[in-house]
Amino acid sequence: MPPPAAALTWFSIATIAVAAAAVASSTVEGIGVNWGTQMSHPMLPTTVVRMLKANGISQVKLFDADAWTVGALAGTGIEVMLAIPNDQLARMSSSYDNAKKWVKENVTRYDHDGGVNIKYVAVGNEPFLKSYNGSFLNTTFPALKNVQKALDEAGVGNRIKTTVPLNADVYSSPDNDPVPSAGNFRSDIRELMVQIVRFLHDHNAPFVVNIYPFLSLYQNRGFPVDFAFFDGGGPTIDDKEAHYTNVFDANYDTLAWSLKKAGVPNMPIIVGEVGWPTDGDKNANVIYAKRFYDGFFRKMAKKEGTPLRPGKIDVYLFGLIDEDMKSVLPGDFERHWGLFTYDGKPKFPMDLSGQGHDKYLVGATGVEYLPAQWCVFNRDAKDLSSLDGDMEFACSSGDCTALVPGSSCNGLDKSGKISYAFNMYFQMQDQDVRACDFGGLAKITTKNASQNGCLFPVQILSAGVKTSAAGAAAAAAAIGMTLLLLL
Ligand SMILES: *[C@@H]1O[C@H](CO)[C@@H](O)[C@H](O)[C@H]1NC(C)=O
Ligand SMILES: *[C@@H]1O[C@H](CO)[C@@H](O)[C@H](O)[C@H]1NC(C)=O
Ligand SMILES: *[C@@H]1O[C@H](CO)[C@@H](O)[C@H](O)[C@H]1NC(C)=O
Ligand SMILES: *[C@@H]1O[C@H](CO)[C@@H](O)[C@H](O)[C@H]1NC(C)=O
Repeated sequence: MPPPAAALTWFSIATIAVAAAAVASSTVEGIGVNWGTQMSHPMLPTTVVRMLKANGISQVKLFDADAWTVGALAGTGIEVMLAIPNDQLARMSSSYDNAKKWVKENVTRYDHDGGVNIKYVAVGNEPFLKSYNGSFLNTTFPALKNVQKALDEAGVGNRIKTTVPLNADVYSSPDNDPVPSAGNFRSDIRELMVQIVRFLHDHNAPFVVNIYPFLSLYQNRGFPVDFAFFDGGGPTIDDKEAHYTNVFDANYDTLAWSLKKAGVPNMPIIVGEVGWPTDGDKNANVIYAKRFYDGFFRKMAKKEGTPLRPGKIDVYLFGLIDEDMKSVLPGDFERHWGLFTYDGKPKFPMDLSGQGHDKYLVGATGVEYLPAQWCVFNRDAKDLSSLDGDMEFACSSGDCTALVPGSSCNGLDKSGKISYAFNMYFQMQDQDVRACDFGGLAKITTKNASQNGCLFPVQILSAGVKTSAAGAAAAAAAIGMTLLLLL
């Protein structure tokens, strides 16, 4: 379903955005978002920040400390979790000096009036994920200690805390006793986890965990669908006095029990990522995503918490915007987690306040698009022998995840699918005419190529391109200047 803004004129969009901004200026408590930036055409950080504010979102989690992004958050009061990516953990663990420099360049520099409201530094991202084969087991804890020490020495350690966002695969219950109270940290990393949680506890830092009911459903085809959502009607789990009606609560309490067993029963838990994707799998669609979020926000508004931890839960939704460059190793849905599409349009009605109002979030304003043109299969082409290879090539750098079975464009016929792939490649290449040739198999059209509920996107003017264009202009000006001086 296209957001209603699609049919409106520029003027009415602007008016609605202002009106909605006025309404939403009160912030939604306890709900933050993950702002990932693995996209080919990112929006301007200032555009994204405006969108956050218009929706009353006052907490944001980043995956690095990119100065352009972080700088856009200055003066907004928005609470920020910065991050040190996994590939930097070895550097941070091997030398305290590196951690000190990181803190100086990425934290203390912004720590002033009108600066950035940094609250947490995430050291690594899910570093103990089973699929990483232990690559970060030796470096994560030493890196954590070095960064916390650097924050302490810089005099901000009482306000800015380190933590390690972990995937829910660091703990589990045994197969023969699958209840939360039987939960504990994974046996291969248990000793390390106990050391880490005690360290976090000693520094008043929270445990950050990513919980994905969608993945429970995706990874286990026998998983009862209703148990992934919050409206009951499915199976339940009885565990001592506790009664579980959804996998989110059961998962969260498995962690709570694991923390108890590690000797830190009251350690605060923050859900670092939670959400539902809208494309790229049979269970990834707008209907399920809306069902998940509606139930989730209702639960959040009631502050009911979980059986073991009643009360408010702090969460960061995953994610803010679709990311067309994310690795699809976990699945084709990876590029479709956004609350917003690549160009900042809300995908479906969503009420963060949990009051169940049937309204859309406020979309991005002032986004500039490339020209309204598409690259499609040329039906007049004679020699089709290279077609399969060309399509594979187009999909290897363009994003074809909407074509897989169960996805929004899987219903296209063969030539529709070829057109889709060619267009995604063409848009990815900023509509370079050379990217719409494929030996005569492709042609450019100004007729909207979208069909049967499958959107053929027109890319936006990339913020990255914009700055490099500005940079090129500046460089050209500088060269002109040099020439003048030489003459
Ligand atoms: C600060 O963070 C940026 C972005 O994540 C990173 O590239 C840079 O190396 C960091 N600075 C230091 C001194 O480590
Ligand atoms: C982990 O091991 C598996 C199986 O040996 C391998 O396929 C995969 O590439 C490895 N992953 C990493 C991150 O090293
Ligand atoms: C971690 O340290 C252990 C013990 O020193 C060593 O055997 C292992 O190879 C190291 N792992 C990595 C990924 O460096
Ligand atoms: C093309 O058509 C689709 C489906 O009707 C629509 O959502 C989209 O906004 C159109 N694109 C442009 C650039 O007009």
